[in-house]
Amino acid sequence: MATTTPADDRVPDMGKRELMNLLLLGAIALPSGGMLLPYTYFFVPPGGRGSGGGTVAKDALGNDVIAAEWLKNHGPGDRTLTQGLKGDPTYLVVESDRTLATYGINAVCTHLGCVVPFNTAENKFICPCHGSQYNNQGRVVRGPAPLSLALAHADVDDGKVVFVPWVETDFRTGENPWWA
Ligand code: FES
Repeated sequence: MATTTPADDRVPDMGKRELMNLLLLGAIALPSGGMLLPYTYFFVPPGGRGSGGGTVAKDALGNDVIAAEWLKNHGPGDRTLTQGLKGDPTYLVVESDRTLATYGINAVCTHLGCVVPFNTAENKFICPCHGSQYNNQGRVVRGPAPLSLALAHADVDDGKVVFVPWVETDFRTGENPWWA
């Protein structure tokens, strides 16, 4: 005796199959959708651009640097790293009159590229890799580093610190900027 599947039984089966297909599709679509996000961030860097092709400085947590807030927490003579142009570690400088310097100092050593810490006791930047030294404005005072640390303008735009490429004469040496 041949058994036939009643139409009523096929309907739930079809329903199940469609559900499985949907789930499968979801399982594929979900990771791909998630993967789009990093790409979007990669091509559209977060943080936005300031006016004139500048980049808003970011603190260690990745937040925009608000000038007034920064000056509340950083006293005269302070040099603290922020994220600057092209993501380069860049020092924000607080002048002795508690204002922000109009320049930032790129922390990448001009010898072989180590990040140079500021030595408060010596009032200099001293590279841990091969001992190059820079004065408190980043001018090279001892090799093997061949050049001073690069500069960027540190402007304040809408309350935020914005780094802008420095293409003018290097005020520390009176020479054309080697980095521009
Ligand atoms: Fe700084 Fe060599 S990398 S002294």
